[in-house]
Amino acid sequence: MIATVARSGLAPPPQRGEGWEGWEGWEGWGEDLPERTAVPASGGAAHPVLQLKKINSFYGPVQAHFDLDIEVRQGQIVSLLGGNASGKSTTMKIVLGLLKPRSGEVNFNGASTLGLSTPQIIRKGIGSVPEARRLFPAMTVRENLLMGAYARNDRKAVAEDLERMLALFPRVAERIEFQAGTLSGGEQQMVAMARALMGRPRLICMDEPTMGLSPLYVDKVLELIARINAQGVSVFMVEQNASLALQIAHHGYVLQTGRIVLSGPAKELLADARIRDAYLGGEGAARTAS
Ligand SMILES: Nc1ncnc2c1ncn2[C@@H]1O[C@H](COP(=O)(O)OP(=O)(O)OP(=O)(O)O)[C@@H](O)[C@H]1O
Ligand SMILES: [Mg+2]
Repeated sequence: MIATVARSGLAPPPQRGEGWEGWEGWEGWGEDLPERTAVPASGGAAHPVLQLKKINSFYGPVQAHFDLDIEVRQGQIVSLLGGNASGKSTTMKIVLGLLKPRSGEVNFNGASTLGLSTPQIIRKGIGSVPEARRLFPAMTVRENLLMGAYARNDRKAVAEDLERMLALFPRVAERIEFQAGTLSGGEQQMVAMARALMGRPRLICMDEPTMGLSPLYVDKVLELIARINAQGVSVFMVEQNASLALQIAHHGYVLQTGRIVLSGPAKELLADARIRDAYLGGEGAARTAS
């Protein structure tokens, strides 16, 4: 049973024609790329988009994951929580094929990705917003965005999507000819999100999207994640800020030294005393934007 999306503390999604100029352009997203078209969250049964099953991964002799099981269903936002060095970023590496697990299964849309290279996995419809954004700092914002569409041949649709991104992220539009390395952290985060969306992903993976951002940008980025998700893109996000992550998520997993120690609907996790004590600083610490 998927929990209702809890958005307390965040602005509600816009109604059509209200705010977020250009958002309306997302209607019909992916129509001309049928094999990659996202199914709206509200429509049909929520089948698993991403499945990690009994993953055991290693860095040399050091084991990073122990029988890791994670599932992201179509239309969901799933948050992976955990302290430093618990294996969150390594989980992203597994999904993107940057690290091959020693055992276990990784399925995207029901098919194994274990034999695939990272570019092949991305072409299947997984977008990545890596830790610390990892833009190409010497390239312009425009060039960075176009890099996100490198696997696509449909140049006209790419140009249209670039326009959509600029409408969705007006701040990015203002900086379009700037070198990416000169942008603020919040601006770079938006460029990284827009770049990932340029690949028209079915699933977007984000590693600590609010890290280092001012509270204003934290809210903005989380709101954008919820909006992107509302258009049918499933989201798998790693976050240290458990409170904020669980506010927009449907489901959460808590990782501790490579093991899932707790999982469930985000609403239930937010109310769970163990989560409150370990990650939210107990009562009254429900909103601690760093
Ligand atoms: N390239 C690497 N080589 C060897 N060990 C690594 C490597 N990358 C990560 N590790 C180890 O794997 C474990 C998990 O690291 P990981 O980066 O996945 O943690 P994390 O939960 O993302 O941490 P953080 O919150 O600090 O980002 C840690 O013990 C880390 O030291
Ligand atoms: Mg990390």
